[in-house]
Amino acid sequence: MIRKYSFGTPLPTDAVVLSLPTEKSPLPFFNLSRSGDQLILTRKLHPEDRIFGLGESVRGINKRGFLYRSWNTDIPHHQETTESLYASHNFLLFFGPESLFGLYLDDPGRITWDLGFTRMDTAVITSENGDLDLYLIEEDSLTEIARSFRRLTGRSYLPPRWAFGYIQSRWGYASEESVRAVAAEHRKRGIPLDGICLDIDYMENYKNFSWRKDAFPDLNRFSEDMRRDHLRLIPIIDAGICAEEGYTPYDSGKAGGFFCRKADGSDFRAAVWPGSCCFPDFQREEVRRWFGDLYQPLLEAGVEGFWNDMNEPALFFTDSGVEEAFRKAEEVKSGSADYEEMWMLGDAFSHMSNNPEDYRSFYQQVNGRQVCHEKVHNLYGASMTRASAEGFRRFDPEKRFLLFSRSSFIGAHRNGGVWQGDNFSWWSHLKLALQMLPNLNLCGFLYSGCDLGGFGQNVTEDLLERFLQLGVFTPLMRNHSALGTREQEIFRFSSWEIMRDTVRVRYALLPFLYSEFMKAALSDGMYFRPLAFDYSEDPRAAAVEDQLLLGESCMIAPVMEQNSAGRYVYLPEDMLLVRFRSPEDYDCLPLEKGDHWIPFSLREFPLFVRKNHPLLLCRDEECSESLDDHSFTALCWMNRDVSSDLYRDDGFDSDPVLSEHLTRFSLNLSGDCPGSVPGVAKFPIVL
Ligand code: GLC
Repeated sequence: MIRKYSFGTPLPTDAVVLSLPTEKSPLPFFNLSRSGDQLILTRKLHPEDRIFGLGESVRGINKRGFLYRSWNTDIPHHQETTESLYASHNFLLFFGPESLFGLYLDDPGRITWDLGFTRMDTAVITSENGDLDLYLIEEDSLTEIARSFRRLTGRSYLPPRWAFGYIQSRWGYASEESVRAVAAEHRKRGIPLDGICLDIDYMENYKNFSWRKDAFPDLNRFSEDMRRDHLRLIPIIDAGICAEEGYTPYDSGKAGGFFCRKADGSDFRAAVWPGSCCFPDFQREEVRRWFGDLYQPLLEAGVEGFWNDMNEPALFFTDSGVEEAFRKAEEVKSGSADYEEMWMLGDAFSHMSNNPEDYRSFYQQVNGRQVCHEKVHNLYGASMTRASAEGFRRFDPEKRFLLFSRSSFIGAHRNGGVWQGDNFSWWSHLKLALQMLPNLNLCGFLYSGCDLGGFGQNVTEDLLERFLQLGVFTPLMRNHSALGTREQEIFRFSSWEIMRDTVRVRYALLPFLYSEFMKAALSDGMYFRPLAFDYSEDPRAAAVEDQLLLGESCMIAPVMEQNSAGRYVYLPEDMLLVRFRSPEDYDCLPLEKGDHWIPFSLREFPLFVRKNHPLLLCRDEECSESLDDHSFTALCWMNRDVSSDLYRDDGFDSDPVLSEHLTRFSLNLSGDCPGSVPGVAKFPIVL
């Protein structure tokens, strides 16, 4: 049951697709108060309450015990105490002896979620806007609440099947030759690959929708050549439009009056990669149409995937910010500043970027009204994603395109996936990536993944290998790194063969993982879930913070610690451990419910499969298009006859119907089970 409560005059967000009547009765579960414009919700927490949700945010799967802020921020150096990341996903799920409900705040402004931070026994949620729609969802289980939330907010984005292949990316591929060389090296060494991202290096002076004719002379031909080799180019598009006369997107945007404005009516400007930029007012339909159509030449050149970046929007600095910092520097220089001001001088410069003052200084048009950007800040990336997706649909409504964005808001999950923003080559960021995944799924973002290996800092071989072992299971499997860091392509490392075999396992599992993804997406389910979802009666399972359920029958438990020779795993029921080294080299070990310490050398990683549920492996290939999704090796720990469904489609159909793409198959206990482990069947099947 979903109930809607409205406060004040909510701003439209496009997050909700169900139209519901507004409740007149008082809001249950929370005490409600006001302080100025702010709306404050307070709830006493039971010691055993857990809180899931908030999608992309720091800390554990259970969000209890910290304070988070919905305020989309470009923050590569995030740590445990960082309150805001690149996205805001305002959905929570309360789960405990006296609670089982979901709470969604449809509010694009700043929200503080004090979930037992100030007082361990109290949750205090504060909306700065104070004007919002609030939704409460009550169902019989966590899974059903998540499903109802998706019905409220709409079906998750479906990427094309090729987007489940391995993607190589790096900021710094400065020419067509360098990209071709990276592709060739993968092919030469048998490292499977489906796509290469083009970062801002391909653009002319970092201007969107342009490309450097000296280094990338003919994008059409380049893209065609890559396609012949079963590879796709995936260019980046940033939010800001370079404010330079004679540059077509700027001229057309200016002529249309499409940019965000300051109070005096002039276009708001801030520096990003190309220098001074204007920012499309994506809240307006005609602006989205204009921006979405700017992708057209690239689509015509054969590009089938994009990543949208810097769309919090990230602001490096504004003229007024620079003036203010220099004014302070002058004061210090002239001796008129006091000791504290001198001490704070560094901050005056470092706080020039993403400065709250700047976000307060411009306006967006919402329903014909000028609204301070601050009030709709968290929608910016989501609306850019919407503009792109709408453009792709106009270009070819029948086809799925790859699109993933850095910034997002609930609602954007219908139009694209997300990557988890800039991370570091840190073990702690590997664990953080895993912990975000189920909460992103809960908020609708099924197609997601992190920068494998870490974006900033220099990766080590073992860390990259462990990142890849997580990446084998994340829908977006992309290795990405920053300019100036250690080169991070698999082939750069002495242990490249181990990493290659890890990626090969992804390809052997790809049809199975794709099937699990599509079944989840098309039934408003979750691809990754916290263990609490399926084992809500088991307190041990509910507390697990470093394992995830995957699809209908699997569980992942990656090794995420430096130098560890294995790890503890809690099995909430009897499961088959498949310990992979490569697609042809793995052990199968039936394990009973309970705690296990399992050794994993650096090259080994597990997948756990429920008893009487089959896992399908195909022959790996160098790209997803070459995979044979008819012939499989079925692995199953079984003590009865088993049947299951495999989802298959052409990989592009924009509106597939789940039931039309399922192939039912059975494994019979009495059949030929030539597996060497008693009770574990391993045999070829053709579907
Ligand atoms: C941002 C993106 C990163 C990209 C870089 C250069 O930091 O998050 O992925 O490589 O900009 O475009």
